[in-house]
Amino acid sequence: MSTAGVNRSEHGADSFGHALRDGLRSEPRRVEPKYFYDLQGSALFDRICELPEYYPTRTEFAILRQHAGEMAAHIGPQAELIEFGAGSLQKIRLLLSALQRPARFVPIDISAEHLHAESQRLADEHPGLVVLPLAGDFSADLALPPPAPGSARRVGFFPGSSIGNFAPADALLFLRRCANWLAGGGLLVGVDLVKHPALLHAAYNDSQGVTAAFNLNLLARANRELGANFNLSAFHHHAFYEPKQQRIEMHLVSGRDQCAQINGERFEFADGQTLHTENSYKYTVTGFQALARAAGLLPQAVWTDAQRLFSVHWLVAPGA
Ligand code: AVJ
Repeated sequence: MSTAGVNRSEHGADSFGHALRDGLRSEPRRVEPKYFYDLQGSALFDRICELPEYYPTRTEFAILRQHAGEMAAHIGPQAELIEFGAGSLQKIRLLLSALQRPARFVPIDISAEHLHAESQRLADEHPGLVVLPLAGDFSADLALPPPAPGSARRVGFFPGSSIGNFAPADALLFLRRCANWLAGGGLLVGVDLVKHPALLHAAYNDSQGVTAAFNLNLLARANRELGANFNLSAFHHHAFYEPKQQRIEMHLVSGRDQCAQINGERFEFADGQTLHTENSYKYTVTGFQALARAAGLLPQAVWTDAQRLFSVHWLVAPGA
């Protein structure tokens, strides 16, 4: 396994500090959810995935387990697999066991430490597999390595409905970049489905408070990395479904009038004022397929669970 270098200025504390201060100066206040995923945040997210209320992970796993053979047949032999937002690398294991002679596996993740530890574990378990982790932000202008030697085609894997963090217009741009990156291959992408709001509400307001801790970790991270002095007990987690835009919104709400400092800069919070930390868009199957087509990808297969909670789409990227 070789290791790509981490660019602190793009992906480390500097970038987080700028993004958070910019977001706190804007109206309404907001920050991108990619900053949740420091080491602690990634570990909290792994705990979210095991919560009884958080259906996406276990449902997508079941879909992958049940249909891995068909998915592998679409992907074909000697594919180079690129995973966007690789996290703990659990889902790729299901695909790898079904794939014929994968040429290489390139997991991309913003959380460099987590990525390198998990990549090493995967490589140890699959002695024949070339694993090339790439620490970086796939939503920005990340460059992919040249195609793997001996690979027949390049296939993207984007599970977990991480695509739901993009607003639809940005999802369209990302899918267009995928159509270019993956030309001649395709994209296997997991997409959370529109459903009864009560189920969505429970998934983002778990009874153990893990999602709340995940959300609040953003402020804890600012205290750790930026020398900020957020009072974590004076903010609370707020998550709700917004049906018009088909999205869950997560916010951190100030529980009183207060002030926090980051590097000497003061930020006042009125009682009830919020910092918008995440959008998680939900799609219908046909709605997502229309978005994929608009990006130049061809929907060729889709798998869902029996309750239609979650979907996995195989999108072909036409060759040059
Ligand atoms: C990783 C973006 C798919 O939106 O469900 C989980 C993140 N936020 N609980 C999601 C998340 C709160 C998750 N994604």
